[in-house]
Amino acid sequence: MASERQVRAGLRRAGQEHLLRFWAELAPGARAALLAELAQLEPEGLREHCRQAAAACALPAGRPSDLAARLRPLPPERMGSVSRSDPETRRRWEEEGFRQIALNKVAVLLLAGGQGTRLGVAYPKGMYRVGLPSGKTLYQLQAERIRRVERLAGERRGTRCTVPWYIMTSEFTLGPTAEFFKEHDFFHLDPANVVMFEQRMLPAVTFDGKAILERKDKVAMAPDGNGGLYCALADHQILEDMERRGVEFVHVYCVDNILVRLADPAFIGFCVLRGADCGAKVVEKAYPEEPVGVVCQVDGVPQVVEYSEISPETARLRAPDGGLLYNAGNICNHFFTRGFLQMVTRECEPLLKPHVAVKKVPYVDEEGNLVKPLKPNGIKMEKFVFDVFQFAKNFVAFEVLREEEFSPLKNADPADRDSPCTARRALLAQHYRWALQAGARFLDAHGTRLPELPSPPLQGDPPAVCEISPLVSYSGEGLEVYLQGQEFQSPLVLDEDQARVLQPPES
Ligand code: UD1
Repeated sequence: MASERQVRAGLRRAGQEHLLRFWAELAPGARAALLAELAQLEPEGLREHCRQAAAACALPAGRPSDLAARLRPLPPERMGSVSRSDPETRRRWEEEGFRQIALNKVAVLLLAGGQGTRLGVAYPKGMYRVGLPSGKTLYQLQAERIRRVERLAGERRGTRCTVPWYIMTSEFTLGPTAEFFKEHDFFHLDPANVVMFEQRMLPAVTFDGKAILERKDKVAMAPDGNGGLYCALADHQILEDMERRGVEFVHVYCVDNILVRLADPAFIGFCVLRGADCGAKVVEKAYPEEPVGVVCQVDGVPQVVEYSEISPETARLRAPDGGLLYNAGNICNHFFTRGFLQMVTRECEPLLKPHVAVKKVPYVDEEGNLVKPLKPNGIKMEKFVFDVFQFAKNFVAFEVLREEEFSPLKNADPADRDSPCTARRALLAQHYRWALQAGARFLDAHGTRLPELPSPPLQGDPPAVCEISPLVSYSGEGLEVYLQGQEFQSPLVLDEDQARVLQPPES
């Protein structure tokens, strides 16, 4: 391990020697921990990181002033849409997706290194329970959707197949996530097909370019953004692992969308049939200020402009039909070919520009007192996963229905948007719709029939509580056999056991 003298010399070169300010008063254990942390920060990289952070932050509002003039909506020929296509086209997409899954060519990759600051829990978001009758966590729902889509693909092609699950974690989330999966027996997935790997961390920096000490013996570090994916793929030879398994197509998604369709056959099939190397799922934006990035073109090149970087005036612009001009809301579900990821990690990663987030970063002051700042005092630099879209040769966007595929968990209750309550409702409303479509009827406590086809479409709590296990249905398919013509009282929890009870005996 590097000595204090070596580390100090490196820090001096990087202009960051203040990080050893409290060295003299540290106990041996604390000294060792600090040295280990500092030894990982390569001096030249650290100097450049701190310089870039301070310089980027000095730009007005962090957003280029001419951005609006360079933006255009994505041209229609780059878009596919679930709601604007005919059933035969949708069936072809799905068939192709299932075919690729059955050939073991599809993997899912979860971005789970974030700190979930807005939700305010001390554990990884995937471990969160939104209060479903089954008590399932986001991770469990995701694991069960993988198992179901594997089964559906396998049945169609008469094979057994695997969708490997890659999970990018960070120093904050790796330990608890790995522990949680072990405790839950990997939700009955084969642990060999669940690959966790860790993204890098970067120091938080003051406005004048100094890395921040959060304790006398600890630098304030944060994950390097979900665009840290590309370095992490290379650091841990993940693409080589994919190659060994024969994976060609990767569905990358973020942890907090309770409705996420993992390895969605329609999305995969659409992208494959279009010969895309890179794709993004979008939904129609709900309102101009909605905190979602917009998929669009900047100087004619497909990109996502993040909600923190678009001006309110641009976000409010209207198209001739009255809808929002920048309407394609990014739901953080991306399609990449392995070849594209290989090219990006080898050639393009250094070209990705970090984004600046100004945050309140707790620190120790000159006297060694711990300070919790009331105003933002530090800069965190993050890369964004979608910033590689600009390198795609054939980028496509795929529009899906919000009520079927997007309800993110961002804020703690009682926020009125993107909260545990809205996520739970979105899932239960979806399952109620699926059950009605499959011919179920629901009765209230007095035996009176509850509304069959809610009109207007469901807002708020559905009339009855109905939760369907992803192991029974992935996207509403195959439910008639259990539900057709039957009456249920709320709550109905259709898990595998209940499905067996409801299944008519084979004749
Ligand atoms: C993200 C998208 C935004 C989109 C929205 C939809 C990015 C940069 N922004 O915004 O365009 O409209 O989701 O819900 O993708 N993560 C890491 N490592 C990190 C930071 C984050 O793995 O260092 C993961 C998180 O765990 C999460 C995902 O990336 O799964 C998205 O991060 P989050 O900070 O929640 O992004 P949003 O600001 O909500």
